[in-house]
Amino acid sequence: MNVAVVGLGFVGLVTATVIADKGNSVTCIDVDGEKIEKLKRGELYIYEPGLKELFQRNMARMSFTSDYSSLRESEVAFICVPTPTVNGKIDLSSVRDSVLSVSSVDKDVIIAVKSTVVPGTASALSSMIGRSIVSNPEFLREGNAIEDTLHPDRIVVGGKSDVDMEKVCDVWEFTGAPIMRVTNENAELIKYASNAFLATKISFINEIANLCEKIPGADVATVAKGIGMDHRIGKDFLRAGIGFGGSCFPKDTRALVSFAEEKGLELKIVKSTMEVNEERIKHAIEMIEEEIGNLTGKNICVLGLTFKDNTNDLRESKSVELIDALRAKGAKILAYDPVIKELDGVKMVNRIEECKGTDSVVIASEWKEFETNPIYERAKNVVDLKKVVNLKVHPNVRVIGAYHAEN
Ligand code: UGA
Repeated sequence: MNVAVVGLGFVGLVTATVIADKGNSVTCIDVDGEKIEKLKRGELYIYEPGLKELFQRNMARMSFTSDYSSLRESEVAFICVPTPTVNGKIDLSSVRDSVLSVSSVDKDVIIAVKSTVVPGTASALSSMIGRSIVSNPEFLREGNAIEDTLHPDRIVVGGKSDVDMEKVCDVWEFTGAPIMRVTNENAELIKYASNAFLATKISFINEIANLCEKIPGADVATVAKGIGMDHRIGKDFLRAGIGFGGSCFPKDTRALVSFAEEKGLELKIVKSTMEVNEERIKHAIEMIEEEIGNLTGKNICVLGLTFKDNTNDLRESKSVELIDALRAKGAKILAYDPVIKELDGVKMVNRIEECKGTDSVVIASEWKEFETNPIYERAKNVVDLKKVVNLKVHPNVRVIGAYHAEN
């Protein structure tokens, strides 16, 4: 097939590459000319395990341009542009602009919206362009994006035209995943409800983590394992820590709450999920203060800057929020990250060993390489805010979500 992908951010680039890998020709469009030039040279601007190799292998089937007229031959155009929240409300201008641009070039190309949009968006845009639109929300995770795209749990396709929906299903046939054919509105809400539910699981376990810290003998990792073995609950997304960050959960929970408010509804659980998440950094700071006292003038080494492991994405990173809060308390920060080597105003080190002399080594994201390190034995103090350290090897590390004798 001839397919177009509009918006070459994280979702767009992974989607385009995987679709090309399955033998399709992909026209990749982005308004950012710099990105286009990089891609033409075979350079990537995002870090995603396995993507570079897959991309370079498939470049011959991919073309890169800022010119929408190049999608004339395409049968389906996937819209993968960002939908940020501005003042708590979703900003749909990029989606609208790209849909209008595609339909002005070619009325026949099927438009499939992958961007996360509030229910009603596809129908409203359909009326604007006089053609039905397919909703095809994305469920891939950064850091695991290729695997998630190749083997999704389900494909959700929403729309009013069976013919258009079938064409979009054809693109994803290689996944072998179950396909749900629904209305645009259901597809749009499935995406929001999924992210809100996953975020709720995280805030739930973080509340249980707070409780565990008050109970001698309790540890949230064990409690999470125990509840997760009940298949109705499930074991995933029960890792306690400093809360969810990134480009999706924070913005999508905000957008969903404000969308519901416009409908006259208060989403109490989602709001509490956000509140619990907002308190995580304050809680982390209190833990560090319990360990090393007043933070003024203290040297702290933070391990991990991105919003989670296996990505170079710093958007709404809890680690960066933590660094800002530590600094506001007068601490001096050193930081190490496996992929980020520069961050405005932060002194970076190239090796974890360089953190040895600091007052505390604080682990703020879940990279596998943080599981064990000889430095944890030699450092004055280590605080694990992501429950990543192997406690069998390093039993003296202070961990979030576990009782601590000095409580
Ligand atoms: C999330 C969803 O998981 C995807 O299904 C969805 O497609 C995507 O948003 C999106 O809307 O585009 P992503 O933001 O890449 O994916 O990352 P997650 O793995 O969901 O992690 C989000 C945050 O939650 C991270 O800060 C992570 O550290 C934190 N987290 C995750 C926890 O604190 N505990 C957990 O158990 C899991």
